[in-house]
Amino acid sequence: MAQFDLQKFKEIETPFFYYDESLLKETLKIIKSESDKHQFHVHYALKANANNRILELVKQAGLGADCVSGNEVLKAVELGFESNNIAFAGVGKSDKEINIGLDYDIFSFNCESLQELIVINELAEKRDKTARVALRINPNVNAKTHHYITTGLEENKFGINPWEFEEVLKVLEECNHIKLVGLHFHIGSQITDLDVFKSLCLRVNEIQEWFISKQILVEHINVGGGFGIDYENVDENPIADFAAFFQLFADFLEVKPSQQVHFELGRAVVAQCGSLISRVLYIKNGQKTNFAILDAGMTELIRPALYQSYHKIENITQAGAQSSEKYDVVGPICESSDCFGKAVVLPLTKRNDLIAIRSAGAYGEVMSSAYNLRDKAIAVYSSDLK
Ligand code: LLP
Repeated sequence: MAQFDLQKFKEIETPFFYYDESLLKETLKIIKSESDKHQFHVHYALKANANNRILELVKQAGLGADCVSGNEVLKAVELGFESNNIAFAGVGKSDKEINIGLDYDIFSFNCESLQELIVINELAEKRDKTARVALRINPNVNAKTHHYITTGLEENKFGINPWEFEEVLKVLEECNHIKLVGLHFHIGSQITDLDVFKSLCLRVNEIQEWFISKQILVEHINVGGGFGIDYENVDENPIADFAAFFQLFADFLEVKPSQQVHFELGRAVVAQCGSLISRVLYIKNGQKTNFAILDAGMTELIRPALYQSYHKIENITQAGAQSSEKYDVVGPICESSDCFGKAVVLPLTKRNDLIAIRSAGAYGEVMSSAYNLRDKAIAVYSSDLK
């Protein structure tokens, strides 16, 4: 059980997201030192959590920004990320969004299709600029994760496929307003088996050799994000093994002299520093099932409903109590999938008890919705409670 300040929490209107800034700082420090050992560059994927206070700490730690919308690019710029440290990916960038990237001369557009290359070139020409472009390539490597968050298989919509490479090179020859600067890969999220990343490295090496055989040596290889976290042992294992992660790429990725290696990590940076704190509204004892009905629901954290994801659930009011009971922990939303966990073992739980849903720092608040006209849950930071 994490050290939550129950007395202070009791005074805050629930549900709310609680962020432990010390843990985030510690995580960032390790990411920076372990990646620096290999001169790797890490961009933080804003999509995981785009709160200003979180981004401020990420920026201070010296990470770049990985964006997937024009608004994320604008946010990164507004918060002071250097534009030459901003990458922009996304399978469906609108003209308006591409123009934002062009206006700020961003580090790289990670381009996902032949047609997008042509559009970026046209828009850059109109502004008399040269767009820096990396080709997002679909390497057909199985990420062995939930199929909704697998992105690097032939069946997925993301990236350019190898059989299109010849045509891409022809198109690039015509594109005078594009500078090809990188090759980009991202195969999926919540990948906990490091062997998957080894397969990615081997595939990237092959692909890079093909480009070199065509006399194309890019400035950087971007291997994306996807490093998973331990949702079960949150307190025992709050920081993923970044040393092993980066070492694997150092061991297996064939990097050419002067070539940079880039990463785009989201979840592994911020997931463990966040918890969704909620209050028990009602206990409903059924014949077979007891329900603990919370004031937080899928509107605050949609991951269990959308991907059947596991999040550790704790009763912080009754911490240390001996008795235990099984509950289906559910939200108030009018959907049966609005359930955080079935048959969850908790201490005997009562109305008004505070419940923590852990590892909610990534893809929690950013994916929240106003369904049922719900209020937006506020964010509370550890340093504000001191
Ligand atoms: N780069 C690209 C191109 C991506 O699409 C993503 C995530 C990342 C980097 C960062 O991946 P991470 O290091 O966070 O795994 N909502 C889902 C996760 C969707 C991930 C989408 N792309 C979830 O809650 O599990």
